Amino acid sequence: MVQLIDSYDRKMDYLRISVTDRCNFRCQYCMPEDIKFQDSTELLSLEEMLTFAEACLQVGVTKVRITGGEPLVRKGVVDFVGDLKAMGFEDVTMTTNGFLLKENLAGLVAAGLDRINISIDTLQQDKFAFITRRNHFQKVWDAIMAALETPLSPVKLNAVAMRGINDDEIVEMAKLTLHYPMHVRFIELMPLNGDTDGSRFRALFISGKEILERAQGELGDLREVEREDPAAPADEFKFDGAPGTFGVITPVSEPFCARCSRLRLTADGKIHPCLLTDLDVPVKEAIRSEDPIPEIHKVLWKTAGIKPPAGLTLPEEARNRTMSQIGG
Ligand code: 5AD
Ligand code: SF4
Repeated sequence: MVQLIDSYDRKMDYLRISVTDRCNFRCQYCMPEDIKFQDSTELLSLEEMLTFAEACLQVGVTKVRITGGEPLVRKGVVDFVGDLKAMGFEDVTMTTNGFLLKENLAGLVAAGLDRINISIDTLQQDKFAFITRRNHFQKVWDAIMAALETPLSPVKLNAVAMRGINDDEIVEMAKLTLHYPMHVRFIELMPLNGDTDGSRFRALFISGKEILERAQGELGDLREVEREDPAAPADEFKFDGAPGTFGVITPVSEPFCARCSRLRLTADGKIHPCLLTDLDVPVKEAIRSEDPIPEIHKVLWKTAGIKPPAGLTLPEEARNRTMSQIGG
């Protein structure tokens, strides 16, 4: 079997597809309130994304994560999950803000979704409204509780850690893992909101190490859980007897580039080989060509060839792309 591999010998077997750059929230760290979304005529159709995925599957990509923007705002995305599973991907997962999740749970389960990550940065309604600029805490929380009653349990919850905003909730969030089968992870804030002011980023940033120390200080022993997937970015821990796990994802303080297996497809048909650079490789034309699969393969190998080595750091200023455009 052919395996897509980059110039530094890293296997590329994990595809993240951003099915839309649109979102029904406006999280401060992700996008400005007045964001201009892409013209929908620029976007790939879901069928075109499936063609791309098929080409990836043939070169050894086995895992797909569906992201956005918010993936559940894209019409047809539930069937898209089913199509990816039918095509033969081992692992099909989704990252969502949870707003449209409850009504889609049954469909996603029936389509064969393997896991779900829900982004929730706070357990307080007013703070949730402040961070996301939308007052939808209750709806998201209800969706999380409903997800726990489905085969998608245990669910993963992702919170972006911000000093002075939600660092006072580290312990409360960690405590969720004592009561529910949840994997709660704090993600280090990345300077990626299209905001060029590095000082704001520096004021908000809080390291994964500090988060773990604070949780441990209050709640006692955290035991490290062994990584099932060596490429998984989270450092995960468990409190004694807890049904869930607590962890941190440290893209800023300890980048996991050396074990990066990722490939990102944007909604407008570009491949991003690395979140830390603005590199992208257009693939729309290849997807729309007469004989797309071999054309896509050429673009995939070209992307593998330019995927940067480990050791880059994320520049604090001068990044103009928002996470919603790249797909997290
Ligand atoms: N830093 C860290 N994580 C971010 N996300 C979006 N923007 C940022 C950022 N600046 C995360 C969200 C969500 C996923 C879509 O990307 O929290 O989990
Ligand atoms: Fe939407 Fe997620 Fe960005 Fe928030 S972080 S605006 S939910 S895409």
